[in-house]
Amino acid sequence: MSTLHVIDHPMIAHKLTLMREVGTGAKDFRQLLNEISMLMGYEITRDLPTEEVEIETPVAKMTAKKVSGKKLAIVPILRAGLGMVDGLLSFVPVAKVGHIGLYRDPETHMPVEYYCKMPPDISERIVIVVDPMLATGGSASDAISMLKKRGCTNIKLMCLVGVPEGAEKVMADHPDVDIYIAAMDEKLNEHKYIVPGLGDAGDRLFGTK
Ligand code: PRP
Ligand code: URA
Repeated sequence: MSTLHVIDHPMIAHKLTLMREVGTGAKDFRQLLNEISMLMGYEITRDLPTEEVEIETPVAKMTAKKVSGKKLAIVPILRAGLGMVDGLLSFVPVAKVGHIGLYRDPETHMPVEYYCKMPPDISERIVIVVDPMLATGGSASDAISMLKKRGCTNIKLMCLVGVPEGAEKVMADHPDVDIYIAAMDEKLNEHKYIVPGLGDAGDRLFGTK
């Protein structure tokens, strides 16, 4: 059964509040998303396995810890997921990056796939799927299915703002995938936008529309 981690941290909450405000422009929105993603990276990598290695400091030999086991991949869902990549990469600089292109059909609100490019060894990596918005959950669930089709067995989902129905869909479709999120909002409106949310994350990030 998957676990839903709502990351409760004063600095993340503060930065998210600034992002939500309607007057926040694209430059600040991008910067804040970048900073939050780096902070969330701390939580999402908390359970990475470590191993003891022998090293030598300028003063003495010692046994110290290094991250061991599978390597990481970050997979943003285009477009808005791109805004979370650099922050996470500053936390795990050796991670590879795959891309999944999905957009929500404006009429049906169902995700439509238009791009997928993965590192060749993606099935051997711990994959962190990133997308700021978890609304109906359709995009995240489809992205995870695409990764599973490519052999991935260790997948986590990192979002910024969601609603319970989106999280429930992903957990029902993918009970093996843990979700990390900064805030769980109230509901979706008739256009399947998160209320209160922060609007269209892709448009706010890139200054489109
Ligand atoms: C947004 C968001 C998610 C999706 C969430 O992308 O970034 O990918 O909607 O909605 P869902 O949970 O109901 O599937 P959008 O389709 O607007 O594309 P964009 O990032 O290119 O703007
Ligand atoms: N996608 C967004 O960018 N915002 C929402 O509120 C829902 C889906």
